[in-house]
Amino acid sequence: MDEKLEQVKQTLAKYGQEQLLDEYNRLTDENQKHDFLDSILTIDFNQVKTLYEKSKEKPNFADSKIEPIEYVDKSKLTKEEYDELNKIGTEQIKKGKLAVVTMAGGQGTRLGHTGPKGTFDLGLDTHKSIFEILTDVLIKAKQDFDVEIPWYIMTSEENNKQTVDFFENHNYFGYPKKNVTFFKQGKLPMISTDGKVLIDENHKIKQAADGHGGIFNSMLKEGIVYDMKARGIEWVFIGGVDNVLVKPVDPILVGLSVKKNVLAAGKSLVKANPHEKVGVFCKRNGRPSVIEYSEITPEMAEETDENGELKYGESHILCNLFNIKAVEKVSQKALPYHIAFKKAKYIDKDGNVVKPETPNAYKFEAFLFDAFESLDNLAILRVKREEEFAPVKNAEGVDSPETARKLYLDFHSKK
Ligand code: UD1
Repeated sequence: MDEKLEQVKQTLAKYGQEQLLDEYNRLTDENQKHDFLDSILTIDFNQVKTLYEKSKEKPNFADSKIEPIEYVDKSKLTKEEYDELNKIGTEQIKKGKLAVVTMAGGQGTRLGHTGPKGTFDLGLDTHKSIFEILTDVLIKAKQDFDVEIPWYIMTSEENNKQTVDFFENHNYFGYPKKNVTFFKQGKLPMISTDGKVLIDENHKIKQAADGHGGIFNSMLKEGIVYDMKARGIEWVFIGGVDNVLVKPVDPILVGLSVKKNVLAAGKSLVKANPHEKVGVFCKRNGRPSVIEYSEITPEMAEETDENGELKYGESHILCNLFNIKAVEKVSQKALPYHIAFKKAKYIDKDGNVVKPETPNAYKFEAFLFDAFESLDNLAILRVKREEEFAPVKNAEGVDSPETARKLYLDFHSKK
């Protein structure tokens, strides 16, 4: 123990993180002390230092050449084009070459729901949770394509147990359990504005999910890529948990990717207004990319083309398709981290729990769509908002349970 403590002290001194020892000295339980030292040793303080330095930089597009990107409008396909894509995609799906991944590692803080976002009751008469609504889609796909689609659900350290228990307690909503696999995403320490790693209210290093960009690496580490390959999967749809109109089993999207011979594709829709909180597809230095809403400048967001349309108006809705080769390729790479400034409860140097009213800590997140830049090409399929996008993000107002419920009911009443 003394040796370990010495090692920890040296590491902390090297990186100016000695404040963590205050917490260690306050702990009385030997096991807790032991675990605390172990958890310090798992942290890459060099990475923390680099991330902190990066937190001072502003996203800069000056060095990048940003241009609009081409897309295919699903509603403008001729009957022949539609039938051809449908035939190609259907064949792939029926042969069992498609898997679905749902990213459910986020905490859904904006929604104000305690628990994994997927467990949220949308407020329908049936009281279905978001997870049940997503399961319905896969059950329907089973009927349409006569195949059981393997479903992988990415959770985080914070919500893994609750998520798995929820599925167990509901008997997987009638979907075969053997086709549902959970895996966890990674995490990173949260740091204060002066670069110090924080302690959380449970006397542990304050860590948060490292963003969905870590998904490819987690899929590799957790054996998901291996499992997919063993099942003969070629196409992997990756979507967020919070869109109750998501259409993950889409023969047109798969067909388009095969026809265009690309390793990835994304669905887009027309941005509702220049400041809608969605990322937008674009080309950055000639490569496919997404500019996130938190990083786009107001000027770029409002720029229009010669037809008066938004120049960067193809919204990214977190409905993307990757070929297994792309998943493997990207899983070997480190995607860049983006910085969010958040309110984070912590224990101060005197041992008091502080619940800040305003943001006080940096959180680092990698974004899945940064993977697009390492691919030469991306097919984009523009779809209709009322058919495929009903996000549940905020407790009230736009993208709330109320708006999503209405979109969901309208869509299902038309079928
Ligand atoms: C996201 C997209 C945005 C898109 C919008 C469409 C990002 C960074 N941005 O914004 O481009 O236009 O959705 O609705 O995704 N998640 C994890 N682990 C994490 C973080 C998030 O699994 O560490 C999951 C969440 O559970 C959720 C999804 O990713 O399903 C989206 O995350 P969120 O942070 O809510 O993104 P938005 O800001 O809504």
